[in-house]
Amino acid sequence: MNRIIQWIDERLPIVQAYEKHLSKYYAPKNFNFLYFFGSLSLFVLINQIITGIWLTMSYNPTAEGAFASVEYIMRDVEYGWLLRYLHSTGASAFFVVVYLHMFRGLMYGSYKKPRELVWIFGMTIYLCLMAEAFLGYLLPWGQMSYWGAQVIVSLFGAIPVIGDGLTQWIRGDYLISGITLNRFFALHVIALPIVILGLVVLHLLALHEVGSNNPDGIEIKKKTDEYGRPLDGIPFHPYYTVHDLVALVIFLFVFCVVVFYFPEMGGYFIEKPNFEPANPLKTPVHIAPVWYFTPFYAMLRAVTIPFLGLSAKFWGVVVMGAAIAILFVLPWLDRSPVKSIRYKGWLSKIWLAIFAVSFVILGICGALPANEQPDWLAPLCTVLYFAFFILMPWYSKFEKTKPVPERVTG
Ligand code: HEM
Repeated sequence: MNRIIQWIDERLPIVQAYEKHLSKYYAPKNFNFLYFFGSLSLFVLINQIITGIWLTMSYNPTAEGAFASVEYIMRDVEYGWLLRYLHSTGASAFFVVVYLHMFRGLMYGSYKKPRELVWIFGMTIYLCLMAEAFLGYLLPWGQMSYWGAQVIVSLFGAIPVIGDGLTQWIRGDYLISGITLNRFFALHVIALPIVILGLVVLHLLALHEVGSNNPDGIEIKKKTDEYGRPLDGIPFHPYYTVHDLVALVIFLFVFCVVVFYFPEMGGYFIEKPNFEPANPLKTPVHIAPVWYFTPFYAMLRAVTIPFLGLSAKFWGVVVMGAAIAILFVLPWLDRSPVKSIRYKGWLSKIWLAIFAVSFVILGICGALPANEQPDWLAPLCTVLYFAFFILMPWYSKFEKTKPVPERVTG
């Protein structure tokens, strides 16, 4: 066995890669539960790819056959119902773990120097993940698939001059049709998964180059023993591989409860109108995207005033785009001398809390019909969402921070 490994290793350095990224990758010893969500994201990604491949074997990407083929998967294909629910629940689970993963980054300043690229690759993954989820949602060809796609694709129409041409180019038709379904299918099953996989590799390579941050925001590479090993680090394998397995078991328990008992999650994971086939002549009464998009949808609807001769819809799209774009430049907005929220001042703590609460309220607003909420709420939360970022260069620089310990705590 050793000789086989040696033979391969002389031609392809697998042992070196295993050591660099696992057995000799020193991770800080003070990770807490928020550090589970990176490996859980990886697990959900693999689940989506495997169940996706098997769903593709029985799915028919045509306007005539798509809805019926999903019913066929649910009723006739052996364990087809399980494959579909693993995939649809997996989509929501992906956003749950990724949102927590990102929030951990916000809390501990993991986006700050030297991890700016880790953050930017992460944000690009998030963007691709949103596109992937949106494209996949059209595939069952139900009422909400159809009208959700109709609403989102028509947003491009708000762009002056090129809007109409662009919308037609995306749809490949004058309305959402089988042609649109076919191209969304191609992008969903092959193009975006390849991009996401590539980005995940870059995300991890960039992280392993500089090493992981931790809840104290201390660079563990600064204090090493005589062999250059960080004093506050432990090898990722076996310590964190085993540690992450515990999280995986807990995650799988919750995930399976949802898959087997609440796969529609009261209409939040699979929306009720999607049990009806797409009908271009009948608009559902209330169109709402799936829960993970609702904060941005609420921002879109919060803008109701035309400005500079451009429609409110156009400005809504700009606000929605800016809400995501601003996250990309976060590493350059935070000017605090410390990384972790543990040692930042109270202004940073309060603003992070305001940001998180506003984001959740926006999510609720986006899921409710516009007439079932106070009309000032979503605009207020949109302003607070942006204020967290725009005021950051000021409050992060001037607030009083606590001294950061020399070595990790806890
Ligand atoms: C498919 C999606 C993703 C996967 C599979 C993934 C995977 C991982 C893994 C395995 C780690 C190392 C373990 C950990 O620190 O939790 C990590 C770290 C990190 N990720 Fe992601 N990630 C994903 C998406 C994102 C997104 C959307 C962001 C933010 C925009 C992000 C930002 C970060 C940051 C800043 C770190 C370093 C954290 C630290 O050292 O404190 N990731 N990621």
